[in-house]
Amino acid sequence: MPTMVMSNAGPGGAKKFEGRITIYVVICGIIAATGGLMFGYDIGISGGVTSMDDFLEEFFPAVFERKHKAKEDNYCKFDNQNLQLFTSSLYLAALVASFVASKICTKHGRKLTMQAASIFFLVGVILNAAAVNIAMLIIGRILLGVGVGFANQAVPLFLSEIAPVHVRGALNILFQLDVTIGIFVANIVNYLVSNIHPWGWRLALGLAGVPAMMLCLGSMVIAETPTSLIEREMLMEGLAMLKKIRGTDNVDAEYEEILHACEMARQVKQPFKNLMKRSSRPQLVIAIVMQVFQQFTGINAIMFYAPVLFQTIGFKNDASLLSAVITGIVNVLSTVVSVVLVDKVGRRFLLLEACGQMLITQVAIGGILLVNLKATNELGHGVAVWVVVLVCLFVSSFAWSWGPLGWLIPSETFPLATRTAGYAFAVSSNMLFTFVIAQAFLSMMCHLRAGIFFFFGAWIVVMGLFVIFLLPETKNVPIDEMTEKVWKQHWFWKRFMDEEEDKKHSV
Ligand code: BGC
Repeated sequence: MPTMVMSNAGPGGAKKFEGRITIYVVICGIIAATGGLMFGYDIGISGGVTSMDDFLEEFFPAVFERKHKAKEDNYCKFDNQNLQLFTSSLYLAALVASFVASKICTKHGRKLTMQAASIFFLVGVILNAAAVNIAMLIIGRILLGVGVGFANQAVPLFLSEIAPVHVRGALNILFQLDVTIGIFVANIVNYLVSNIHPWGWRLALGLAGVPAMMLCLGSMVIAETPTSLIEREMLMEGLAMLKKIRGTDNVDAEYEEILHACEMARQVKQPFKNLMKRSSRPQLVIAIVMQVFQQFTGINAIMFYAPVLFQTIGFKNDASLLSAVITGIVNVLSTVVSVVLVDKVGRRFLLLEACGQMLITQVAIGGILLVNLKATNELGHGVAVWVVVLVCLFVSSFAWSWGPLGWLIPSETFPLATRTAGYAFAVSSNMLFTFVIAQAFLSMMCHLRAGIFFFFGAWIVVMGLFVIFLLPETKNVPIDEMTEKVWKQHWFWKRFMDEEEDKKHSV
């Protein structure tokens, strides 16, 4: 049975989109989402590898020595700028790459951008796995970063564009689901290879080639989005693709709406300049802020350094990797919760519930460490188990909210004219703030000690207030009708949507 979806399409008044969830759209979604596996695997593997002795001894001997000094300060033993740079270089490269990717996405399509992503990533993997000096490591990571920048730009946009409106959230979250699966698999790999000496770390880094190969081969068989085809004036192909992914010939209303969006987009010669206009402010602010807040939940402090963190609080090597595996499972399963709920309960509900849960858990972890973990002691077993439980509760709330929605909301709020350019700001903000946190976390932990958890807690309060007052609900609104139905209706943001005002303010 086709599902009818109401939509007041553009100038033509009330229209209905017809479309069901076809097998084809699901397959395309699953394949494209493997871009998330590359990103996730990397997040998980870098934390694991940087706590492996063989790796540290070869590339970061100073950290290695400090780690093994009996009385080193608990909060400071991993603090080393070079080690942080190894983790962070990927994010800087991805930051720049996302802007290049946005142009390629518009000019050559989402599919080609994904293919390019997998190739850059593969070359990076080879350099990393074969590294014999820091230069090879860093250059490899920069290439991985370019791959991640390209994939994170193209995949969520692709998913939001092919999805029927009533399951757009769920389909888009396949990307984040793959991110979490990537992290989880990496955690298991970390655990298994930590006993293979002295080259286990090479295997860990080399296996990143598997998701890249999956995306490379998979992206040869998937469709291009109808929007991208029509945008590039391949009208017939666009229409045929729309019929194919919707599983019906009755796609006139949706086709017309995409055409209308493309028409508007064509009048915009310089998307980046257009983004600076007053009328783009709401979407731009939301896209950037969603990603900045996502990072200021403190999730990557936990994700990158889960093994390091668990060692710090007194678990031995194996046990700490095992704990990271546990958080990995929680992350995956809780993301499934989001896939199921996001188009039913809406985006705002998930975000707000999570703010409450994350605040309580961050403060509790901070409190426990403040009282129990001094510079050189170890946490008692019972207390350490509590910390792991709290970390799991924190991760689960992130996983059904700010994790997936940080990618979903920016991918669905821009009009086509500024979509890829606007989305590039979201991706690059993610990368910038992931970099900032990765670079700063070990030093912050060394200086703020348990206070780091209160620092993130304070941010969570700010995020909650932002959602309450400034984040509109985008559930079930067709992607090309956001301006009319969301931004022009919002109590605060509607003041930016006046075109006359826009002209007055433009120079
Ligand atoms: C974030 C990453 C994070 C991951 C955790 C992603 O959405 O962008 O920074 O590590 O979720 O699952």
